[in-house]
Amino acid sequence: MAGVGGTGYLGKRLVKASLAQGHPTYVLQRLDDAVHIEKIELLLSFKEQGAHLVSGSFDDHQSLVDAVKLVDVVISAISGVHLRSHHILIQLKLVDAIKEAGNIKRFLPSEFGTDPARMDNAMEPGRVTFDDKMAVRKAIQEAGIPFTYVSANCFAGYFVGAIYVDEDDIAMYTIKTIDDPRTLNKTLYLRPPQNILSQREVVEIWEKLIGKQLQKSSIFKEEFLTNMKRDGAEEASQLYPEIKYTTVHEHMKDPNHALS
Ligand SMILES: NC(=O)c1ccc[n+]([C@@H]2O[C@H](COP(=O)([O-])OP(=O)(O)OC[C@H]3O[C@@H](n4cnc5c(N)ncnc54)[C@H](OP(=O)(O)O)[C@@H]3O)[C@@H](O)[C@H]2O)c1
Repeated sequence: MAGVGGTGYLGKRLVKASLAQGHPTYVLQRLDDAVHIEKIELLLSFKEQGAHLVSGSFDDHQSLVDAVKLVDVVISAISGVHLRSHHILIQLKLVDAIKEAGNIKRFLPSEFGTDPARMDNAMEPGRVTFDDKMAVRKAIQEAGIPFTYVSANCFAGYFVGAIYVDEDDIAMYTIKTIDDPRTLNKTLYLRPPQNILSQREVVEIWEKLIGKQLQKSSIFKEEFLTNMKRDGAEEASQLYPEIKYTTVHEHMKDPNHALS
């Protein structure tokens, strides 16, 4: 598998999960970026762990095609803010390269959030990211590229309240999908059952951990889980029960591990 955006917050976890699950792992090393010591150290540590570094740039179509030809699965973890460069959706360039290379068995574009197909009523500033992700989906499907979209809900390190998913668990579930026929051309929802919590339930875990009651005003609990069943979708913890996902309780006991 090849990772694009492998030095990012989620990307480095995907590289780790891919190596942990025994896949030959290639990481795109940017040719077009200023040199950052931490990034070079990270890339070298990937190499020490057995990953291959491949040079390439979104500004050099042929370099992307050549990189894609080395692998059979491509995973992109480019960040939302970087999806556009000079008003061009850069992931579309990756879609073009995958289409031209013609050898890719599965493409996982940079999704890893709320399912953009369900965000018709979203407001700015989030709106543009959902629209961009939908434009990438359209290009993938029009090109006939086999895909899996990973809908990760809320990164545990970022949010309080809703569906929490530990970032390392997101990476492990994502890598599980890449050669699984059950996730071909589907969206994989990450909804670990123990981690679907209202704000009140999160506060209760917190109170147990610190051993005292917090002062609070009440919050209405929304039935946001109704109407979640969709065609063309699977739920990750049901599909991969062998992954012991991090519960909110465990995460709150050691929140710093998400930042590592
Ligand atoms: N559900 C949630 O709660 C949640 C939270 C955060 C993010 N997300 C989603 O997760 C995904 C990954 O986000 P992230 O926070 O992990 O991103 P991030 O840490 O900002 O990393 C982005 C990666 O993309 C690379 N990149 C950016 N521009 C590039 C370019 N022109 N060419 C090649 N590489 C480029 C960066 O490389 P350099 O390091 O070399 O710049 C970096 O490796 C996004 O789709 C985002 O929307 C979801």
